[in-house]
Amino acid sequence: MSFPEFRFRRLRDNAVLCEMVAETTLSARHLVQPLFVKEGLDGRRPIDSMPGQAQLSLDELVAEAARARDAGVPAVLLFGVPREKDATGSSATRPGSIILRAIAAVKAKVPELAVIADICLCEYTDHGHCGILTERGGRPTVDNDVTLDRLAEMSLECARAGADVIAPSDMMDGRVMAIRGALDAGDFSHLPIMSYAAKFASSFYGPFRDAAESPPKFGDRRGYQMDPRNSDEALREAAADLDEGADILMVKPALAYGDIIRRIKETLRVPVAAYSVSGEYAMVEAAARAGWIQREPMIREILLSLRRAGADIVITYWATEIAPQL
Ligand code: PBG
Repeated sequence: MSFPEFRFRRLRDNAVLCEMVAETTLSARHLVQPLFVKEGLDGRRPIDSMPGQAQLSLDELVAEAARARDAGVPAVLLFGVPREKDATGSSATRPGSIILRAIAAVKAKVPELAVIADICLCEYTDHGHCGILTERGGRPTVDNDVTLDRLAEMSLECARAGADVIAPSDMMDGRVMAIRGALDAGDFSHLPIMSYAAKFASSFYGPFRDAAESPPKFGDRRGYQMDPRNSDEALREAAADLDEGADILMVKPALAYGDIIRRIKETLRVPVAAYSVSGEYAMVEAAARAGWIQREPMIREILLSLRRAGADIVITYWATEIAPQL
């Protein structure tokens, strides 16, 4: 049947029917709120390039976590900003370090919330790279295999502090296997891994690096993060992480990578998370402040598009704000 017997507008003209046949849902239960906790901070320090977001003291972090819970957001993703950084990122694993205290504090005060620990060394190293450096051909580069031990150690410490999910974002080869092994050996075989499986070397991370104080001091991350031109490779990364024991696969950034989300979801049929990153947030906030766009409808449309692309979970800086509207 085709026009004029068939008309698409019949189901659009009637708002009730339109609602009944809508294919995609976006609700609070899919959302994750990322939060930044900064050691030694009193109160909150706004992040210039992410208006509305702030670095938080431990107390403010707990308050923000409670707000997320009250808004109906089921999970938070925590990033620590330590006072001291060194070559091996020892503040990622040292007892009493900011990230471990943050995980414990949120679990103690807001236990219903799932706490996801971002596992990466870039916030904790003085050079700002995601792993331990070595030299190759007279140039510094990240030593993959040495870094694996540190990531496994950090994962285990975060698990001991109470994290519910371990989320490695470093993009070292073999990290999921190394982390799974360490968790299993440490009595945490029940803890899931959400791997940043397809994480692209992206200009969309700019504002985050202000928030986490983690820009690389030299070079860039193209030696370990993915080339934005590659989609087959994203599938292979995803399949490898799954094989190594990942439970949820993440695609990051999200907005410019809907095709990757869709391919991974359709090919592998496993839970997929999309991370709507800092640059996506900053673009919308800047345009809204200039009065060029309608902010809330655009936010909902962007997040909905990630669900439509195939994401089960959507990680977004708008989670707490938008959840009550859904
Ligand atoms: C690395 C990490 C980054 C982000 C999350 N984890 C930055 C990077 O790889 O440089 C970016 C998140 C965002 O931009 O919102 N630990």
